Amino acid sequence: MSTGGAPARGTFEEPPAELTPHTAWGFSTTSADYDRSVTANQRGAHRLVASLPTEAYERILDVGCGTGLATTEVLGRFPGVRKVIGVDPAEGMLAELRDKLATRDDLEVELQNVPAEEMRLEPAGVDLAISTMAFHWLPDRRAVATSMAAALRPGGVFAVLAPSAGADLEFFQLVRELDPPAPSEWLDAERRYILDPAELERVVEDVGLEIEDMWVEERVRRVTPDEFIDRMKAVATHVFLRTPGYEPAVLEDAWSRTEDGIRARAADRGAFEYRFNKVFVVARRPG
Ligand SMILES: C[S@@+](CC[C@H](N)C(=O)[O-])C[C@H]1O[C@@H](n2cnc3c(N)ncnc32)[C@H](O)[C@@H]1O
Repeated sequence: MSTGGAPARGTFEEPPAELTPHTAWGFSTTSADYDRSVTANQRGAHRLVASLPTEAYERILDVGCGTGLATTEVLGRFPGVRKVIGVDPAEGMLAELRDKLATRDDLEVELQNVPAEEMRLEPAGVDLAISTMAFHWLPDRRAVATSMAAALRPGGVFAVLAPSAGADLEFFQLVRELDPPAPSEWLDAERRYILDPAELERVVEDVGLEIEDMWVEERVRRVTPDEFIDRMKAVATHVFLRTPGYEPAVLEDAWSRTEDGIRARAADRGAFEYRFNKVFVVARRPG
């Protein structure tokens, strides 16, 4: 397991420019605030895990495990789990998960501090391969789904939860209306990091998995502007506050105008109201 080079939790350092290391750097810098800022992610992981078929899962793989919201939900529902493999390139996020599991002497815990595209897994070595709110950050979703499918024993279960088309619509509207305009990467984020459910369905089927249950949730949340801003910082610092290739002053100016827009909208309506859609899929490796 490699742990070198990652920033300490809660500190800001200059990020590496390449895409996944930059994403990982962003999550490591905000990992200490992550669980507090994304309570909706915990509830989403809970709903996915509650929908898994009731079976004896002993070995689980959590891809883009972060601080372990999915892993802890699985451990809560299935006390028979004996081995956890967590994969995440953000060492700061893994450090939080390591702390959570520190007292679980009954568990074998293997944390791989690498992008999912580089994870090393035994063929047919796990009973459940899960990924919550991480699939959308993967540069090569098909390759990772292929590896997850190969890691499952025949009959093993695959489960993914990701943001779905329409998520954060109101935020992206505000970003689109900025004048002077936002960096084009901010607008691209809606296309790049919000999944089309049809794309997810195609990927899962193309890698040979059989879908048993797939659904989209369309939710509208009402939060304070600070809650919304904290969430954005916890999950997308690398996209908006440290966009590669831009001077910090340019980003600070555009971000501060975005925050003004969020606050103005909330002042009009008594809360910041935004859509957050999620896609869930539960599938099985045939056999
Ligand atoms: C929003 S967090 C989700 C964490 C956790 N699964 C949850 O449900 O809260 C996204 C996670 O994906 C990880 N990630 C980003 N790029 C990745 C990649 N290429 N491979 C694996 N994980 C990645 C990030 O480091 C981060 O921990």
